[in-house]
Amino acid sequence: MKLCIIGAGYVGLTTGACLAEIGHPVIVTDCDQAKIAALQRGEIPIYEEFLDAVVARNQSAGRLQFTTDAPAAIEAADAIFVCVGTPPDHDGKANLAAVERVTRQIAECATGDKLIIGKSTVPVRTADHIRRTLATYTRSGARFQVASNPEFLREGTGIFDFFHPDRIVVGCDGEPAAAGLREIYRPVVEGAFHCPCHDRPANQCGWRPPVWLETSTTSAELIKHAANSFLSLKISYANAIADICELAGADALAVLRGIGLDHRIGEAFLRPGLGFGGFCFPKDLSAFLEIAAELGYDFRLLREVQAINAERVEIFLRKLRESLWVLEDKTLGVLGLAFKPGTDDIRLSPAMAVVQALLARKMRLRVFDPRAMERARRELPAEVIFCDSPEAVAEQAEAVLILTEWPEFRAAVWPRMKARMLRPLVLDGRNLFRPDELARLGFEYVGLGAGAAAPAPLPAAAAR
Ligand code: UDX
Repeated sequence: MKLCIIGAGYVGLTTGACLAEIGHPVIVTDCDQAKIAALQRGEIPIYEEFLDAVVARNQSAGRLQFTTDAPAAIEAADAIFVCVGTPPDHDGKANLAAVERVTRQIAECATGDKLIIGKSTVPVRTADHIRRTLATYTRSGARFQVASNPEFLREGTGIFDFFHPDRIVVGCDGEPAAAGLREIYRPVVEGAFHCPCHDRPANQCGWRPPVWLETSTTSAELIKHAANSFLSLKISYANAIADICELAGADALAVLRGIGLDHRIGEAFLRPGLGFGGFCFPKDLSAFLEIAAELGYDFRLLREVQAINAERVEIFLRKLRESLWVLEDKTLGVLGLAFKPGTDDIRLSPAMAVVQALLARKMRLRVFDPRAMERARRELPAEVIFCDSPEAVAEQAEAVLILTEWPEFRAAVWPRMKARMLRPLVLDGRNLFRPDELARLGFEYVGLGAGAAAPAPLPAAAAR
């Protein structure tokens, strides 16, 4: 099936490359000429593990093309995936201008039969607006089928998530659209692919047949928002439990593991810390609150999920103040800037929120992140010192702050870092370590709920 992807962002680029990988001819189009030119040169503008190899392989096989000529890409395709951004407006509502713009473009230049598949995260009933817009602006009498196929790709593991989905959700109002989507995803549903993540056939890399969930477009659109807001709820619940554990002197990680072992709860997304960031959860939560309000439902529960998450940075800064006394004119080492490990994305990153708050207090910062340095350099002032290793952030530092739980930081040479620090104090915003792991190396350790209720007592004026 000839496919067109409109929008070469995290979702469109990853989805287009993977659809080509399973055998479909794919043309990815975007209005950003610089981005398309870079992609045509084989330069990938985002970090996603395995993406560069998948793009290169399919580009050289002639299955994956990039163009700014959307009309030509639309005309050549049997099915068109709409993967454009739906960023939040000032009031938190999803901005659908790009969705409407590309829908009208499809209507104006498509001929024949086309399957239009909404993949962007959109408010419920967007597919109905797309149907009406296509009917209103089509010039050639083209016939459109409209479907909703929400994505569940996590940044940093998008390729893995495409080939190992728990479920494929298809919203449509009839057979032709459903048949088209079944044909598109058949290799993933049947395990008929060579997994690019493991370089092994599907049946040798833990692939399981995904559940194929066919429903209305309205229900499919709601599934995406309902799923992301539930995952956010789990995280805020974990953070609330962590705060209670600190007050009670309990070990939050033990308590949360204890509840997560119940198969009805599950251990994932119960990790307490600086909370959720990125360009999905915060955006989708705000959008879902607005969607519910417009439907006449006051989603109070989600407002509390947002409120708990919004406190995490301030709680962390309070712990830092309790440990350092005066937050001014001190050097701090910062490990982690990305909103989570595995990605270079710093959008709405809690780590960057901590960094900005410390800069506002005239703190001197030495920072390191395995992937996000270039993006952070564009947003941080010149006085921030960008280091070339985790150890280097420790130089003359009064404390080292772990703000993103990159596995590399566990392998850092902490005894060497201790020797370079003015004070062996670690504040672990992501509970990357257990308290005793660093304490036994002579560090004062402060976690977020991980059994370190109050900051460690000030050490006696030990000889250094
Ligand atoms: C999310 C959804 O997981 C994905 O299905 C959807 O398609 C897009 O949004 P993503 O935002 O890339 O993916 O990251 P995710 O791994 O879900 O983490 C979101 C945030 O929650 C990160 O800031 C992460 O640090 C935080 N998190 C995650 C926690 O604080 N605790 C946890 O236990 C898990």
